[in-house]
Amino acid sequence: MVLNFIRERINVVLFCVLGCCVSWEIKGEELPLRITGKYLNIPVSHRVDRGKMSFSLDGKIVREFVVRLAQDTPDYWVFTDVSAFRGKVLRISWSGDTAGLRQIYQSDEIAGQDSLYREYNRPQLHFTPRRGWNNDPNGLIYYEGEYHLFYQHNPYEREWENMHWGHAVSRDLIHWKELPEALYPDHLGMVYSGSTVMDYDNTAGFNRGKTPAMIALYTAASPEKQVQALAYSLDRGRSWTKYAGNPVIDSKARWNSIDTRDPKVFWYAPGKHWVLVLNERDGHSIYTSGDLKAWTYQSHVSGFWECPELFELPVDGNPEQTLWVMYGASGTYMLGDFDGKRFIPRAGKYYYTTGTIYAAQTFSNLPAEDGRRIQMGWGRVTHPGMPFNGMMLLPTELSLRTTKDGVRLFSVPVRELEQLQTLELQEECLTAEAADRLLQPFQNAATLRLKVTLRLSHATDAGLNLFGQSLLHYDLNANRVNDVFYSPEDPTSLEISADIILDKTSVEVFIDDGIYSYSMERRPQANNREGFRFWGNRIEVKHLEVYSLKSIWK
Ligand code: FRU
Repeated sequence: MVLNFIRERINVVLFCVLGCCVSWEIKGEELPLRITGKYLNIPVSHRVDRGKMSFSLDGKIVREFVVRLAQDTPDYWVFTDVSAFRGKVLRISWSGDTAGLRQIYQSDEIAGQDSLYREYNRPQLHFTPRRGWNNDPNGLIYYEGEYHLFYQHNPYEREWENMHWGHAVSRDLIHWKELPEALYPDHLGMVYSGSTVMDYDNTAGFNRGKTPAMIALYTAASPEKQVQALAYSLDRGRSWTKYAGNPVIDSKARWNSIDTRDPKVFWYAPGKHWVLVLNERDGHSIYTSGDLKAWTYQSHVSGFWECPELFELPVDGNPEQTLWVMYGASGTYMLGDFDGKRFIPRAGKYYYTTGTIYAAQTFSNLPAEDGRRIQMGWGRVTHPGMPFNGMMLLPTELSLRTTKDGVRLFSVPVRELEQLQTLELQEECLTAEAADRLLQPFQNAATLRLKVTLRLSHATDAGLNLFGQSLLHYDLNANRVNDVFYSPEDPTSLEISADIILDKTSVEVFIDDGIYSYSMERRPQANNREGFRFWGNRIEVKHLEVYSLKSIWK
């Protein structure tokens, strides 16, 4: 008893020191807290099981999530923005041992603000959330000078849970600013993947005066089913109102499946209607609507899993000759025709990219004069020791080009990346050893871009390693690049080129102008001292260009 009492006092004092001197004590199972700061900082420990944390205000639950609340030294801290509750008393409860509640503290800064974006394993070229887990990009849209990146986010742990839509904006696709969470889970479930459009013609009736609504269609996922829901924003994605008539699609019964999710919406101008592509059980379904709320099922293409995309692209830049691209989360795609209601596959499935990429989406509402189709994908990349997990891969520009095997999808990093780079060296016709020597000063660079062309002549396979990790391995004999089938445009060619972008924890490689690309974690072999190492019997490094890259974080 006494010991308990003393421990409680110590905890309260500690809490006062840590917690901006808010002298509140746990009452029963709850911590009452008058909100004076912007954030609540919450300690997380992976030695603790997940438990449910609830915030209530005047007896009503206003926020609820699961978290591993640290009882002692936390592995890291997460935060939640409580500025909406400023001046009010929040009652915080947790289903586990409530002793951990005492370490929660409020502040106008997040715990770890001082080292934010300078943490030792923080990617310097890629967007990562300040804290927590991210997966798919969602709702990619350009509007009034801003690119919006919403994303699957668990703000409370570096593993998947509590799906929200996180939100970040950029003016150039490269420098990102993280904003508060856009969409929170609700009674329909967690907020899974989806997309956004601008409703310029007020088809849904949410516009205010001349301000068009930004409309999000997303999946609300409960353990029972996955339904499609709508939310809208009239302030450039900063705040969102969920539609009272949600859900707008409930198709569990039609498919006898719980897997009905990830709506991707666009305006189909020739038919003057909206199109929604939805992954349902074994493939992608097409729905149409005049108002984004009432949707009619039209058709289905089997053979895809999760995160649909469907868009039209000119072939070889010719607007008179277009094809529609349909893909799923893995990135494998079909090419075909689309009449507004049915997608007719003509070719595929092919792949254009492999590795860590998943659930890539393209931006909507890009200005017509831009004319590009820009994509971002989730990089399934971990960052050892960091309080966040996952990242967004570099934005890429997609195009359709005719190859010896037919029309194929190409992907190259957007030109905006070039603003970060400075040319460090450019050489032609080097031996492998000479190229290794030239690269030595860069072997420990946190970020780097290398453009390389190899010529094999005496070798059946060749490549480039960095501290024992294979960045590029071209097996000409077996037609493989890093173990994936690859047949160059000229099958008699002995050359291969690669645009290699290194960040702290990731590597992205674009082969032969983007006809194939791959991404992976950057993992130097322990105890390997080799640095950059070109290998292959008497190969020539025909071309080598090296760029240093500035960090995207200020
Ligand atoms: C793809 C995915 C989506 C789903 C989301 C949930 O990675 O499984 O199908 O909406 O992630 O986070």
